[in-house]
Amino acid sequence: MKLFDVYPLNNISIERAAGSYVWDDKGEKYVDLYGGHAVISIGHTHPHYVKRIEDQLHRVGFYSNSIKIPLQVELAEKLGKVSGKEDYQLFLCNSGAEANENALKLASFYNGRKKIIAFQKAFHGRTSLAVAATDNPNIVAPVNETENVIFLPFNDEAALEEAFAKNEISSVIIEGIQGVGGIRVATESFLQKIRALCDANNAIYIADSVQCGYGRTGKFYSHDFAGVDADIYTMAKGMGNGFPIGGISIAPKIQPKHFMLGTTFGGNHLACAAALAVLEVIEQEDLLTNAKKIGDYLMEELRKLPHILEVRGRGLMIGIELPEEMNMVKKNLLFKHRIFTGEAKPNVIRLLPALNITKTEADIFLQAIKTELLNGPTSASDQ
Ligand SMILES: Cc1ncc(COP(=O)(O)O)c(C=O)c1O
Repeated sequence: MKLFDVYPLNNISIERAAGSYVWDDKGEKYVDLYGGHAVISIGHTHPHYVKRIEDQLHRVGFYSNSIKIPLQVELAEKLGKVSGKEDYQLFLCNSGAEANENALKLASFYNGRKKIIAFQKAFHGRTSLAVAATDNPNIVAPVNETENVIFLPFNDEAALEEAFAKNEISSVIIEGIQGVGGIRVATESFLQKIRALCDANNAIYIADSVQCGYGRTGKFYSHDFAGVDADIYTMAKGMGNGFPIGGISIAPKIQPKHFMLGTTFGGNHLACAAALAVLEVIEQEDLLTNAKKIGDYLMEELRKLPHILEVRGRGLMIGIELPEEMNMVKKNLLFKHRIFTGEAKPNVIRLLPALNITKTEADIFLQAIKTELLNGPTSASDQ
């Protein structure tokens, strides 16, 4: 059997990783400012993380949700404390799409309505409702198409008001910072407006924190910058530092009923051990402070460099918009300088490093991108 070919691949295979570094099968060392797409939150193979998963694996790796799993309770308490939402309730699943799927469904259970507001350039995942609320027709199959999703311009308060006036809205789903959409920050007043309109109309405010959450911006949820609480926070990526786990943090006003949500693998023993290790390291190493410190430093230094059209973001979620003629920079960073970065179309370099990245690692990247930018438009190196 061969693989179902759904991704264009870089010709690199990684064999070893530690902190913000990875090594390929030829022993080449790379700096990882991509974190496998915002997943590596506490650094690759963090010793505490490895030990906690290893210890758990020797005890019990999995049992179903038909029994008590005290690790889930421990995780809920810890997440409540670290995220500052202690009175919220946790439902565990396995991915970001699944978290959003459950959030949208729960909102509809709560108010009995169908209409969802999502935003242009949004990405919420690839499963049925999550992909229907994603603004990319190329990944929406005919079976996913629904009239229940209304797409509005991002950060447009008047359009939001109008949509609420014309429809019975079940929920509004929004990334605090659009990731796939090119690192676009939701304004504080826009998030406050969502809160106010949801309150006035008994609709549910869903904060998609899958990419912008888990401390990446210097606050636990990037939506926190607006000073208002969402009704449901969805999360995944950084939650398990690579171990597949997702979850939704649910406001107390939404009451559970047996069987309204469910999962086989969600919240299994191993996933909880991984997620607990992540939160313990985030707390012990004060990683939110580091995310803000190194993120501010990176953005300040990047803004001094030539050719860059715009530097956007918060903390360690940074977008560097380049002109079309500089579209080889990302490739050169990887194949000439051995630095992994992310991208967003049409020409944005995305930085999504581990939250414990050091200034030394940030400087390696700054020096490399400076060299590339000073070279001006050149052809891409072909590894
Ligand atoms: C904002 C956002 N929501 C949801 C998802 C989907 O997450 P997953 O790939 O874990 O299903 C992603 C993935 O990139 C994302 O960036």
